[in-house]
Amino acid sequence: MTLVAGAHEVEPRVTTAELRQALPLVTVRGLEVAYDAQRVLAGVDLELFPGEMVALLGASGSGKSTLMRSLTGFAPITGGAVRVAGHDVTNLRRGQLRTLRSEVGQVFQQFNLIPRLSVLTNVLTGALHDGGPINLVGGFSSAHRRRALELLDRVGIAHKALEPARSLSGGQQQRVAIARALMQRPKVILADEPVASLDPKLADSVLELLREIASEDGIPVLVSLHVLPLALAHSDRIVGLRRGEILVSGRTSQLDASALAPLYEDEEPGDDEH
Ligand SMILES: Nc1ncnc2c1ncn2[C@@H]1O[C@H](COP(=O)(O)OP(=O)(O)O)[C@@H](O)[C@H]1O
Ligand SMILES: [Mg+2]
Repeated sequence: MTLVAGAHEVEPRVTTAELRQALPLVTVRGLEVAYDAQRVLAGVDLELFPGEMVALLGASGSGKSTLMRSLTGFAPITGGAVRVAGHDVTNLRRGQLRTLRSEVGQVFQQFNLIPRLSVLTNVLTGALHDGGPINLVGGFSSAHRRRALELLDRVGIAHKALEPARSLSGGQQQRVAIARALMQRPKVILADEPVASLDPKLADSVLELLREIASEDGIPVLVSLHVLPLALAHSDRIVGLRRGEILVSGRTSQLDASALAPLYEDEEPGDDEH
């Protein structure tokens, strides 16, 4: 017994580099998605490791949102393997699908808050997805409220906790949405165009916040972006889709705008709308 305890004490701290080698939280292999006869993704491979911020690039219609939806079982997967936080997404019963979705925090372009409810209540709704017990009659527990306030403090808007969500600026609303996602205690965060509705300065600060969460909490963040310089400034890795296939994949430090330009070449007319 003492021997085991002793062995435990001398166990070295796991480094981030080791975590990256050991434990991908998302593994996608040869993913194919088709809507009716139209193939939307083909041969997509992706891994997300603890602590990293991965930017997903590609022209409109290239399949970014579909890839994100595949990770939570919301896309018609016709081939390949998808594992997220230990779940085999292609083969889940309804209850397991609910568990999977409770473990994936999501952030959207339009924030998706409930406008008339307070900021605090919006964050608390994240607890409805965390799998823990909620007493809907008595409201949220004081532990939940405390945690929600801590998260609001972390994202820098605790002073707005009692304001209705609709009274906040876009950048502040996205921070509320991020706090709500954290309330779920997510294992992975997916952010689909989270800064497309924000002006550039706010976009920078929201992406920095997401990157900080990734590295401090060890949660991988997959973030789709429209603007190349934002991806180059705020990600550890970049994955680029073109017409449903991965065309570019690498560490951000080894990529530049010219390496990413092929993602946007030969676009068909009309492809540039959202
Ligand atoms: N629900 C759907 N039904 C049919 N086709 C869809 C559906 N969702 C997406 N698509 C098609 O899949 C392709 C990729 O779309 P999407 O993943 O939204 O791209 P992106 O997010 O990169 O703009 C597009 O051609 C789009 O029309
Ligand atoms: Mg999209």
